[in-house]
Amino acid sequence: MVWRMALRPPAPASGRLGVLLPGLGAVASTFIAGVLAARRGLMPPIGSLTQMARLGVGSTPDDRQPLIRDSVSLASLDDLVFGGWDPITTNALEAARTAGVLAPHDLAPLADELEAIVPMPAVFDTRWVSRLEGRRVKPEASKWAQAQALIDDIARFRDGQRCDRLVMIWCGSTEAYQAPSAVHDSVAAFEAGLRADDPNISPSQIYAYAALRSGVPYANGAPNLSIDLPCMTELAAREGVPVAGKDFKTGQTWMKTLLAPGIKARMLGLRGWYSTNILGNRDGEVLDAPENFKAKEVSKLGVLDAILEPSVYPDLYGHIDHVVRINYYPPRGDNKEGWDNIDIFGWLGYPMQIKVDFLCRDSILAAPIVLDLVLLLDLAHRAGASGVQEWLGFYLKAPQAAGAQSADHDLFRQLATLQDTLRGWAGARG
Ligand SMILES: NC(=O)c1ccc[n+]([C@@H]2O[C@H](COP(=O)([O-])OP(=O)(O)OC[C@H]3O[C@@H](n4cnc5c(N)ncnc54)[C@H](O)[C@@H]3O)[C@@H](O)[C@H]2O)c1
Repeated sequence: MVWRMALRPPAPASGRLGVLLPGLGAVASTFIAGVLAARRGLMPPIGSLTQMARLGVGSTPDDRQPLIRDSVSLASLDDLVFGGWDPITTNALEAARTAGVLAPHDLAPLADELEAIVPMPAVFDTRWVSRLEGRRVKPEASKWAQAQALIDDIARFRDGQRCDRLVMIWCGSTEAYQAPSAVHDSVAAFEAGLRADDPNISPSQIYAYAALRSGVPYANGAPNLSIDLPCMTELAAREGVPVAGKDFKTGQTWMKTLLAPGIKARMLGLRGWYSTNILGNRDGEVLDAPENFKAKEVSKLGVLDAILEPSVYPDLYGHIDHVVRINYYPPRGDNKEGWDNIDIFGWLGYPMQIKVDFLCRDSILAAPIVLDLVLLLDLAHRAGASGVQEWLGFYLKAPQAAGAQSADHDLFRQLATLQDTLRGWAGARG
C-alpha cells in the first residue's frame, strides 16, 4: 500500500524541544542516557535512522546520499529537554540503575544530568497495571480532574523549561487488555466519560487526551489502547496534532517482519510460527499477568496475516498456527532471549524449518526508536501534518492506518514509505 501525504515545508526547528515521557523505566532511562552520551560525543546514537541513516535524494543511488538529519529540518539533540511522570521512579538515574540495562561505568559520566530529571507524580491505577504499587501518584480522584492536572503539568513544564515545542511518548507499563467501548467513540463521549469516571478509560488514555488538548504530538510505545481510538483521532484532527501508535517494534516482531516478507518473496509456504521469549525486567513482570499479556499478544499476532495475505494466497498461508509466548524469568533482566521455530514448506509441499535464537537487549533496541519518533513527530507537527502518521509504522509493531485500508507491516515497504515521506520534506526544504 502506498501512503501519500500533502507536504508543506516545515517551520524551522529553532528553540528547545521538550520530551515528555509517561513511564520513566528501562526504555525511557536508556533513551535519555543515550541522548546525553551522544551529545557529549561519548557514543554515536546507534540504531537511530534520524541520526545515522542516509537518504538518497539524487537521480542515482550514489549521486547524493546526505544524512537524514542534514536533509530535513530536525531538532538538534542539544535542544532536547526531558521530563515525564512515573508512580515509582524518583529520578532518571535511579530508573537506569534499577533497570540495569546500562553498566555503572556508562552511567557515571551522566549521573548528575540523569539525577536532575525527576518525574512528576503519575495518573496511575493498579486496576490497569496490577503488578505495580504506585507511591508517587496524583491525589486527584476523578478522571476529569486528573486530565486537568496533566494539562497543568504540561503547561508548567513548557514554561519552566522554556520549551518552544513538546512531544509525548508513552513509555509506561503495558495496561490490561480492553476492547474499545462507546466512551471511545467521539471526543464528546470521552469527555463525558472523564466527568463520569467511566471505568473503560485507562490512565494512558488520560495522558493522550491531555497531550492532544495541549497541542502536543503523542505516540504510544506499548500495545494497550491509548491513541488508536476514534475519539483520539477526532481530537488530533481538531487540534492539528500528529500522532502514531503503537508498540515499539524491537525484538521478535522486528525479526518476524524481516523474515516473513522474505518467505513470501520466494512464494514458499508457511505452516506455523512458534515464538517464545524469556524476559526478566519490570516489563516482563507486568506482562506475566494474563490481562497485560493479552494486550501484547493481540499486537504481536496481527503481523503475519497482514504481511502474508492468506486470503490472496490460501495455498501458501491459509493454515498457519501462530503462537506467541512471553515468560517472566528474572535472571535475564532486560536481556531477552527470543526463540522462533518457523515451519515452512516448498516444492511438492516438502517441509523445512527455520530456527532463530535472538539474544537481544530490549531497551537498547527500543531507545533509538523513541528518539526517532520524538524527532519525526516534531518534524511532522512543524510541517502542519495532523492525525495518524502512517509513515511512522516502520517503528511500530501494530501500526495505525491513516485511512480505511489496513496498515502495512512489511518492514521494507514501511522503510520505503518513511524514506519517501522524508524525501518529500527534503525537497520541500529545497
Ligand atoms: N523494551 C522494548 O523492547 C519494548 C518493545 C515494545 C514495547 N515496549 C513497551 O514499552 C513500555 C516500557 O517498557 P520498559 O521496559 O521501560 O518497562 P518498565 O517497566 O521498565 O517501565 C515502565 C514504567 O512505567 C511506569 N508506569 C506504569 N504506569 C504508569 C502510569 N500510569 N503513568 C506513568 N508511568 C507509569 C512504571 O512505574 C515503570 O517505571 C512497556 O509498556 C513495554 O511493553 C517495550
